[in-house]
Amino acid sequence: MKKSDWYKYGWSLDIKNHSWTEDTENQVDFVIKALDLAGGEKILDLACGYGRHSLAFARRGFTVVGVDITKEYIDDAIFNARKESLSADFYHNDIRGIDYLEKFDVVLNLADGAIGYLENDAENLKIFDVAARTLKSGGKHFIDVCNADHAERFFPKKNWEAGKKSLALAQFDWDSKTRRMKYGGWSIPFGKEAEPPQINMDEINPTRLYSLEELRTIYARRGMKIISSYSNYYGKEATEKELQLLVYSHTKGVKIHVTTRGRDGYKVVGEQQPLQTTSELSSFFRSIVD
Ligand SMILES: C[S@@+](CC[C@H](N)C(=O)[O-])C[C@H]1O[C@@H](n2cnc3c(N)ncnc32)[C@H](O)[C@@H]1O
Repeated sequence: MKKSDWYKYGWSLDIKNHSWTEDTENQVDFVIKALDLAGGEKILDLACGYGRHSLAFARRGFTVVGVDITKEYIDDAIFNARKESLSADFYHNDIRGIDYLEKFDVVLNLADGAIGYLENDAENLKIFDVAARTLKSGGKHFIDVCNADHAERFFPKKNWEAGKKSLALAQFDWDSKTRRMKYGGWSIPFGKEAEPPQINMDEINPTRLYSLEELRTIYARRGMKIISSYSNYYGKEATEKELQLLVYSHTKGVKIHVTTRGRDGYKVVGEQQPLQTTSELSSFFRSIVD
């Protein structure tokens, strides 16, 4: 096995027992709210794993296509979609091999979505190319990755997190020259005799991380723009103090709803391009007052 190929191997359904897969319903609720989804949009879930988000979106009425390089995950996702008669299709493929002609309202790369996993910087950027290419005009991209600014400032570090089924231990290293993170994980299932953690950082394959500023440039080069960024699925704004970086961007043509508050609550009174700069904001407010 070539080391730079690591992303193709070693994925198993055992991740269903890992604490990082526990928050799926809340994550889906958050994405719907943050992206102002109406329901029924067509969603492409890149590196969908065993389809935990895709299936949850399909249960809420969205039409979903999931793609993943791990066959065992795709088989499991297909099985569960059929069992529940959901509007969700799953394909065993490398993200870079996607050649659908259809376009999507939303593209997702969640829990990394394989961003930063690939052989080199040029290959990693192809994931953003796929997102830009598969989105309709005005389509929305949402990614959940680790923040390079956090790694730069706070790594190396160790972390532990208690899930419902296990205690997750993590160790992080950072190479600031290549901007790659090494993440070593160890899971201790509750109710079983604990084994001593064995994390050999020398054997771990690195992941390329991006800062919010790098992502801004990456999106701009693809005609896209960042709308908002967060550091968790509860809406906390992105900060280098937090490892997680959630970014919502769009292709040209996206509209946001303009609402006013009257006696009966909030009412949508129009649509508007998202406002990014203070001058855009002040001219928008001037136009309302005028
Ligand atoms: C950390 S998991 C996240 C899976 C899923 N998004 C989730 O939240 O459960 C990363 C996933 O990336 C997939 N993957 C890695 N490289 C890929 C590639 N080049 N194309 C498609 N999937 C890939 C793996 O098979 C794995 O399912």
